[in-house]
Amino acid sequence: MTRLMRWFWAAAAASPLLYWGEPLLAQSDLARVVEAWLKSPHADTSAEAFIHWDEEGAVPESCAVCHAGVGLLDFVGADGSPAGRIEGPAPVQSPVSCAACHAPEAELLDRVTFPSGVTVEQSGPNTVCMVCHMGRESGDSLGDPFAGRDSDGILTNQSFVNIHYAASAATLYGAETRAGYQYPHKSYSGRFTHVSGYDNCAGCHEPHSTEVREEECASCHQTGDSVAMLKGQIASAHAALARAIVDYAVAGGYPIAYSASAYPYFFEDLDADGNIGPEEARFPNRYAHWTPRLLRAAYNYQLVEKDPGAYAHNPRYALQLLIDSLESLGERVAVPDDLGPRPLNSPWSLR
Ligand code: HEC
Ligand code: HEC
Ligand code: HEC
Ligand code: HEC
Ligand code: HEC
Repeated sequence: MTRLMRWFWAAAAASPLLYWGEPLLAQSDLARVVEAWLKSPHADTSAEAFIHWDEEGAVPESCAVCHAGVGLLDFVGADGSPAGRIEGPAPVQSPVSCAACHAPEAELLDRVTFPSGVTVEQSGPNTVCMVCHMGRESGDSLGDPFAGRDSDGILTNQSFVNIHYAASAATLYGAETRAGYQYPHKSYSGRFTHVSGYDNCAGCHEPHSTEVREEECASCHQTGDSVAMLKGQIASAHAALARAIVDYAVAGGYPIAYSASAYPYFFEDLDADGNIGPEEARFPNRYAHWTPRLLRAAYNYQLVEKDPGAYAHNPRYALQLLIDSLESLGERVAVPDDLGPRPLNSPWSLR
């Protein structure tokens, strides 16, 4: 898309807010919105999420829907092209602009298809958030493909399967969109519903700054209530899972080490010291001795690691995934037994 067209979409999105008959919004309110957005991660065009492709000079189709405001406009059909697919690469350093969320095609979006293939119907201004915050994999990728394989047999040419980053919408929908690897014969919590007004992205996050409306949470939640308890349990189970992953890999003869910041996150632990060193966290040293059991547990570990809001997006689902991953590794190595009970499905959940 040309520079002129980009300008056009930004202006077209903002104009109804400014010029519909009676002004809908005082100038000072608009200034507050713009100010908040400018300081937000969505506008930070120097962030890795927007400069990663600088050397290539364009964001390829497979990444552009989420990594360029212009790519999203292409995807929803706001550039006049068919909706639901992206026709070409997008420019680098194209932020999640006003138009990306407020072009009519973005605002009227009423269904989103997740990586599991499940389509969720939802209308309202939060729907567009889900397009970019749904992740790139579902737990399904670790189910059928390994059916009939020995859970502890090493898979040849198998790479780590990564949900990608901030898949908050997929966590929020839980068992409905199957973000996590869900162990057979277990039941998982569905969409996290919460109280009305705080059950969607913009209810809890101010959409322009993206910050969590924390003072509002505090009006209903106190320190030490069920939310704080679940958050603590998730953190403990997550840490226990990290240890179990290491122990399992050692027992299998191919030690593993994790780095949250180096791609693809899991590496061969060459000196078997249980830690990741700078010489180990290199792509050519990526972990290459996955078994189905290890890969499933590591996938769920990463889901929680890369969604720092999992405790608020769907605490019961997150905890169920961690506890079941621990139980699975526990068939081979010792795991702690003091992590508390597996949570019941959310009281409002249909599953
Ligand atoms: C076009 C894709 C896109 C849309 C639409 C989108 N986001 Fe984002 N979001 C991103 C990207 C990319 C980042 C990371 C930006 C960065 O690193 O600076 C991000 C960052 C965030 C963050 C901050 C994460 C952090 O690491 O601090 C929050 C919170 C967030 N988005 C929430 C939302 C909400 C709520 C909506 C809808 C109102 C939304 N996003 C819509 C792509 C999108
Ligand atoms: C479904 C949406 C989606 C798609 C498709 C997508 N990403 Fe992302 N990606 C995100 C979001 C959202 C973030 C921001 C997470 C955050 O910082 O909060 C992100 C972050 C990143 C980051 C920054 C990580 C960091 O260290 O800050 C890189 C690099 C990245 N993605 C690479 C890619 C590549 C390469 C592709 C295409 C092959 C791709 N992404 C496709 C949603 C997506
Ligand atoms: C990440 C998506 C996203 C981006 C980017 C975004 N908005 Fe919004 N905006 C929303 C959502 C969602 C709402 C509805 C909030 C609600 O219902 O509480 C909203 C509401 C508004 C409102 C109504 C007043 C208010 O504060 O609720 C105005 C005006 C507005 N946006 C203007 C803008 C402008 C101007 C920009 C660019 C500087 C922008 N928005 C960028 C998602 C976005
Ligand atoms: C019940 C309230 C609630 C809902 C609903 C909610 N969030 Fe969150 N979100 C949070 C909290 C709390 C955090 C954690 C913030 C922290 O600890 O830094 C968070 C964190 C995030 C982060 C990571 C920020 C970071 O610091 O890396 C992203 C991205 C995000 N949310 C996006 C979304 C999107 C997109 C939706 C809708 C699909 C959504 N959230 C719905 C409360 C909520
Ligand atoms: C109007 C009151 C109200 C507000 C505001 C509110 N909550 Fe809640 N929240 C509740 C109620 C009621 C429950 C269900 C009872 C319980 O588990 O404590 C709940 C449950 C939760 C749960 C799930 C606990 C469980 O047992 O499954 C989380 C997580 C949560 N809230 C996070 C938040 C966050 C984050 C915010 C702020 C963005 C917030 N809440 C704002 C009333 C509220």
